[in-house]
Amino acid sequence: MKISPSILSADFTRLGEELNAIERAGADYVHVDVMDGRFVPNITIGPFVVEAIRRATGLPLDVHLMIEEPERYIDEFARAGSSIITVHVEATRHLNKTVQAIKGHGLKAGVSLNPGTPAGALEAIMDDVDLILVMSVNPGFSGQGFIPSSLAKIRTVREMISASGRRIELEVDGGIKAGNIAEVASAGADVFVSGSGVFSIPDYAATIGEMKRRLSSVKA
Ligand code: DX5
Ligand code: ZN
Repeated sequence: MKISPSILSADFTRLGEELNAIERAGADYVHVDVMDGRFVPNITIGPFVVEAIRRATGLPLDVHLMIEEPERYIDEFARAGSSIITVHVEATRHLNKTVQAIKGHGLKAGVSLNPGTPAGALEAIMDDVDLILVMSVNPGFSGQGFIPSSLAKIRTVREMISASGRRIELEVDGGIKAGNIAEVASAGADVFVSGSGVFSIPDYAATIGEMKRRLSSVKA
């Protein structure tokens, strides 16, 4: 079970310090939210900042592309130092080709579903993906509430992963806090993105520690 704090909720005037702080606090990945103002209403960061983040932390970079036609930018985000690149099924016309492009760089390839997209959209890509990201909010902003119907979708995707016999990480993103992380884990998730759930409380180690304690009780 892994915690992937979303730096969208970090203090960008002190990004290097924030990255060090979550690394020391026990984070497993750094979740980087890339938004283009078209696929989602918000605009955030591009490859130039990802490259700076790469230099500032030893943690794997979990790069979540919320952009239209992500295939146009795979090379740049790979060169910037991404470890995992996740694209949305709703944003690319040639999902298989885009996933192969990510893997061609030797990176883990992730595929994400918006809350309104059914799990069935993953069927044809199960043999190729390394990570599936179920959005539990409509992407665009941090600090939104977890959409309860996501739990059923997480369960369905967990069954699909088991049936595939492959090692695929199941990540969930949006509205996850220490208070609901165990419920999300019980549904079958194993990677947990948390933005405001981590960064809005000053003691990151206490929060991530509490999340991991609650996760260990689910495993038992
Ligand atoms: C939403 C982003 C999320 C977001 C999570 O569009 O993809 O990663 O930053 O933030 P919280 O945990 O506050 O919902
Ligand atoms: Zn995200």
